[in-house]
Amino acid sequence: MVTATAPGKAILFGEHAVVYGEPAVAVAINARVSVTLEQCDGDWQIDGYPLDSGRHPHLISLKNALLGGNSQSYSVFVESELFPAAGLGSSAALSSAGCAAMLSLSGMPIDSEQIATLSHLAEADAQSGRASPIDTSTSTLGGCVLVSNKKEELAEWRYTRNLKTPEGERTWEVHSVSLPKSASEVWLVVGNTGIHAPTSEMVAGVAELLASNPSKKEDIARMGEVARLGVDALSKGNYPQVGALMNEAHRLLSSVGVSCSELDDMVEVARRTSFGAKLTGAGGGGCMLALTQNPAETAAALEMRGCRVLVTPLGASGVAIENQ
Ligand code: PMV
Repeated sequence: MVTATAPGKAILFGEHAVVYGEPAVAVAINARVSVTLEQCDGDWQIDGYPLDSGRHPHLISLKNALLGGNSQSYSVFVESELFPAAGLGSSAALSSAGCAAMLSLSGMPIDSEQIATLSHLAEADAQSGRASPIDTSTSTLGGCVLVSNKKEELAEWRYTRNLKTPEGERTWEVHSVSLPKSASEVWLVVGNTGIHAPTSEMVAGVAELLASNPSKKEDIARMGEVARLGVDALSKGNYPQVGALMNEAHRLLSSVGVSCSELDDMVEVARRTSFGAKLTGAGGGGCMLALTQNPAETAAALEMRGCRVLVTPLGASGVAIENQ
């Protein structure tokens, strides 16, 4: 039997802009997905049910890549501390933890670049061939991760990820951002609107807007600049500046149509007790986040609005084998 866990993620800067080659920055959060594999007789199972490709495409893809020739079957048990389908990377964390558990069973080294690669390919398989590596890389590496279409000087380059998508070959450079010691004195408060808005629809909406109103491309370019400025401010521990840039990022995301009144309201409330706040991920619903030194106050203000809240330090540890 083996158990592996991996963290979810929250995007600090660059969502949507990353689709157009701009940099995006995410941090691993203190809410994890745990995957346990235990030998069983008969066919593979998940939480007592048969593993099927329609419902568990990530695990099927990883199983085929890593244990395809293995006649032994396993029961998979999954536990998650993440809000599901809310833009916190639960499927990436499942893939990353599942991959680590399968590598461990095969007696292969727990190599983070290999886990990031295989879990990215599993995400892409499950999403019609389209997935940026930000979720799977953040879940695997932990800490703070910067993804860009070129090598960035602001962060430590880790590896290149290539993917054949329906639109052609795409390449991303994946970096780790070192957080200063003072990062342990600030928290992210993540608030969930409870509204489900599929990422693919939000991405398609931005594409339509840019086609009909090309001046909005300036907003996308500025999101990229804000992401680079954000990494610089974060590395220096300049949290008021990070917060101000988060506020600007929210304004830019609203300008390309991916906010909603619930997100705007929660961001406004959270700003009263934080350095700054913005929506995180695809938008249209899902989650917002605030950077704060007063996590209890910020969380209470959001809970008063009736939303579910998660408080996390910045940059949880990456994928790990918990027991064997
Ligand atoms: O839904 P999330 O949190 O995984 O965010 C998606 C981020 C986007 O930039 C909107 C899409 C993408 O593929 O990067």
